[in-house]
Amino acid sequence: MAIRTIIRMGHPNLRRVASTVDRKFVATPEFEQLLTDMVDTLHDAGGIGIAAPQIDVPLRLAIIELPGGPSRYGELETIPLTVFINPIIRILEGANAGYWEGCLSVPGLRGFVARPQHVEVRYSDLAGKDCVLTLQGFPATVVQHEFDHLDGKLYIDRIADPTQLVFEDEFAKFIVPTLGNVPEV
Ligand code: NI
Repeated sequence: MAIRTIIRMGHPNLRRVASTVDRKFVATPEFEQLLTDMVDTLHDAGGIGIAAPQIDVPLRLAIIELPGGPSRYGELETIPLTVFINPIIRILEGANAGYWEGCLSVPGLRGFVARPQHVEVRYSDLAGKDCVLTLQGFPATVVQHEFDHLDGKLYIDRIADPTQLVFEDEFAKFIVPTLGNVPEV
């Protein structure tokens, strides 16, 4: 088990466009170790997704694990631990909805971001198979957030109203009571 350091907003490497993962690299012990470390790091941090650039590895690779059912995020669809290699997102509908997003690379803050709520994701899995996933609602926001990291983007870049970037303590105190069951990322 190896927990990697998560680089934070301000680290220039968080703003790089990541490189395509070579299919041959996926079959190596180095890749397996990288993936194990990403899972360990995600679980240690208590997040629902992490992208390789967040541990300073400039590759188009992300993992997402969304606990389903009733949770502190509200009633959620499940995404079992999924490895996305070289993912590409296509927006299927223009309808946007907003959630209060957080990010392991932007600790202590929350921001309200509106994103399209119906997307198609194409990616390679560990076996090198081409996969397609259609997601709606909160999971659609989650994949967009994670894959933005592969292009050097952070959720704060997408906040339309800067007054809706707040500290977590103030979020819990002033905003959560107004939210009802709206999930947080
Ligand atoms: Ni993030």
